[in-house]
Amino acid sequence: MGNKHAIGLIDSGVGGLTVLKEALKQLPNENLIYLGDTARCPYGPRPADQVIEFTRQMTQFLVQKNIKLLVIACNTATAVALDVIRQEVAIPVVGVILPGTRAAVKTTQNHQVAVIGTEGTIKSASYQKAIQSKMPNVKVYSLACPKFVSLVESNQFLSPVAKKVVAETLLPLQYSGMDTLILGCTHYPLLRPIIQNVVGSQVHLIDSGAETVGEVSVLLDYFEIANSIDNKTPNYEFYTTGSTKMFDEIANEWLDNISVKSKHVDLERD
Ligand code: DGL
Repeated sequence: MGNKHAIGLIDSGVGGLTVLKEALKQLPNENLIYLGDTARCPYGPRPADQVIEFTRQMTQFLVQKNIKLLVIACNTATAVALDVIRQEVAIPVVGVILPGTRAAVKTTQNHQVAVIGTEGTIKSASYQKAIQSKMPNVKVYSLACPKFVSLVESNQFLSPVAKKVVAETLLPLQYSGMDTLILGCTHYPLLRPIIQNVVGSQVHLIDSGAETVGEVSVLLDYFEIANSIDNKTPNYEFYTTGSTKMFDEIANEWLDNISVKSKHVDLERD
């Protein structure tokens, strides 16, 4: 039988689609509903209180659609709002920071780990605290990359401009000796080839999104809410608070197996 209610995913924009792409691969029988708050993106420079309120509004929108589990597919929102949202809703809520941390701790050989993210995520020191609570002898280098999100949201993530911006921004990590780099923002996997090229092939990149879906899968089994394997044609819905045209362009380029036609939603009015 299974539980046919959808899994909800939220992000400030298109970044969480990197998590959804993994969900399509790892959870092929699950119905998915995605909401990107593109109109208010970026969340990175915003005060924590505001990010919490926006995350709450997105959560309420999806809870009204009867989702069975929520993924906060945004590091900035996970950093400040995960605990609050968990207290406010009756369904399991998964963030992206702990799964990425676990993967980094398992991967590093030389105990030099770097994390890149938005200003909000880096300021919260969430990765640093999480890594050091699991492995105190790890040296963590943290770097905010405020220009990366707009490169992705404006669909320029493979452009020459993106190459230049990524190379310049990552300069401070050049002599860090890191062997593991956490992409601590769900927008960054779209820049992955460029980032990998800049840091060199010897550095392992950790995509928190991919790790997160592994955790979702475990929780679906634990709460016995996984959909049954005979759900061969799962349903996917996409919502954005911004332009559906731009959202669909990026989503269709990034998600090669499905066709995305998003709907506009106005969260402040709802
Ligand atoms: N994708 C988001 C994250 O993982 C946030 C980007 C932003 O809105 O600044 O942090």
